[in-house]
Amino acid sequence: MVQSLMRVQLSFDKLIGNSRSVSSNQQGIHPDLEIVVNRHLQNPYQKPVPEYAYQILDQIEKKRRETGGKLILDSGCGTGASTLNLAEQYPQDLIVGIDQSEYRLSKCKEKNNVLFFRANLVDSWILMDQKGWKIDQHYLLYPNPWPKKKHLQRRWHGHPVFPMLIKLGGVLEIRSNWKTYLDEFSQAVEIMTGHLSSIEEFMPTEFLTPFEKKYHASGQRLYRYQITL
Ligand SMILES: C[S@@+](CC[C@H](N)C(=O)[O-])C[C@H]1O[C@@H](n2cnc3c(N)ncnc32)[C@H](O)[C@@H]1O
Repeated sequence: MVQSLMRVQLSFDKLIGNSRSVSSNQQGIHPDLEIVVNRHLQNPYQKPVPEYAYQILDQIEKKRRETGGKLILDSGCGTGASTLNLAEQYPQDLIVGIDQSEYRLSKCKEKNNVLFFRANLVDSWILMDQKGWKIDQHYLLYPNPWPKKKHLQRRWHGHPVFPMLIKLGGVLEIRSNWKTYLDEFSQAVEIMTGHLSSIEEFMPTEFLTPFEKKYHASGQRLYRYQITL
C-alpha cells in the first residue's frame, strides 16, 4: 500500500514538475577554483585512452566524410532529445550525442544526420584533442552539478580534462539550473583563454532537453553560458 502510494506520488511529481533546486554547502565560486584550473593547465592529463574510443572516433570520421557539414557535439545527451532537436535545426550537419548511460541511450531514436554513442566523455574529449579535432558547436546541457564543495573536481571545469574540452573550440554552450556552476565555468575559461562571456538567465519557450522541461516545470531558474572559443 505504502509502495503504491509512493509510486503514485512519483508519477504525480513527474507530471507537475517537482524537482528540487540545487542546494550546496558552497557559497559562490569555489575558493580553490583558480588553483585547480592552473594545476590542470600546468600538468596535462595523462589518462590512457581505451580502444573503444578510437572506434567511436573512426565512425564519426566516416559519417562526416559522407555527410559533410558542421560537426555538432551534444556531450551528456541523456535520452537524446536535445540531439534530435539539434538535428532538426541543423539538417545539413552531423550531430553526435554521447552519454555513458546505457539506460538513457536505449531511449534514443534514430535519425539520418545523428550518431549516438555510449562512452565516457573524458575518453572521447582526450582522443578528439589528441587528434586535433575542432568541434563547430558543442552543447553541454544540464551537466551533473556535483554541488558539494568537496566535489569541485567532478565538475567539468574542475576536472583534469577541462583544458582538452576547451581546446576542442567552436561555439560552446552550457545550460544549468545552478548559476554557480556557470559562474565557475566562465571563470575557468577566462583563466585558461583570457576570454570572458556573460551568463544569462533565460525562459525557454520550447524545451531542448527533458531536464530543462523538468526544471522549468518545477519553477526553477535556468541559465545559459555561451562562448566562441
Ligand atoms: C543531468 S543529465 C542531463 C541529460 C541531458 N543533457 C538533459 O538535459 O536531459 C547528465 C547526463 O550526463 C551524463 N554523463 C555524466 N558524466 C558523464 C561522462 N563522464 N561520460 C558520459 N556521460 C556522462 C549522464 O549519464 C547523464 O545522462
